[in-house]
Amino acid sequence: MKTMKKTFTSIAAVGALAQLITATPVVAAESFSIKDGELARPTGYREWIYVGTPVTPNDLNNGKAAFPEHHNVYIDPKSWAHWKKTGEFRDGTILMKELVSVGSKAAVSGNGYFQGDYIGLEATIKSKQHFPKEPGHWAYFSFSTPDHKSLTTSAKAFPAASCNACHAGAAADDFVFTQYYPVLRAGKATGEEGTGGKQSKLSPAQPAGK
Ligand code: HEC
Repeated sequence: MKTMKKTFTSIAAVGALAQLITATPVVAAESFSIKDGELARPTGYREWIYVGTPVTPNDLNNGKAAFPEHHNVYIDPKSWAHWKKTGEFRDGTILMKELVSVGSKAAVSGNGYFQGDYIGLEATIKSKQHFPKEPGHWAYFSFSTPDHKSLTTSAKAFPAASCNACHAGAAADDFVFTQYYPVLRAGKATGEEGTGGKQSKLSPAQPAGK
């Protein structure tokens, strides 16, 4: 009986401790960390929501595409939930863009562009608090190194002029090129409709055949 009581007390103590831990905001509302203007390279983003892969292969761009070559793009889960609900990018949104080389150009399925090696990583973040002066409060980062073989552990935001102009002028939604991300097109303010299960049309934003 005595031991049982002891066990019970220690369980209660663990419970109280767990409550204390969960009461303090250990889970940040944002999926990134910026200290002294440096964005720590986000990890774990391959478990976020994958939104699409534009490809600008070098061999269609005189051997030197501005952003070689496949671009796998991901959005953090909280911002995806907000996007599904409202069709807007919340303050605190982060999108990661992983650069992957063209590996093979032929497979048993036919000729094409198949993904090779990881060659770089970029990010864009919308934050009024961190970037009050940037257009739309979006800032742009790169962790790529010139030899495309490794990644930096942190990055400073580019000056707005280096990145923002294209995004401001040509992106379909709030500086983001949603026109090239079928997952974001389908999910825009459509709730669960856009998640791949319920919709009857193949692509709500661009009906098949158009
Ligand atoms: C020449 C125009 C242009 C410039 C300059 C540009 N981008 Fe982009 N960016 C695009 C286009 C187009 C896409 C979507 C299609 C693609 O990936 O090719 C894109 C997509 C992105 C994405 C994925 C999320 C999104 O907003 O769609 C990130 C992250 C990104 N760019 C980072 C950068 C960074 C960092 C810079 C500055 C070093 C930069 N971009 C400069 C045209 C540009």
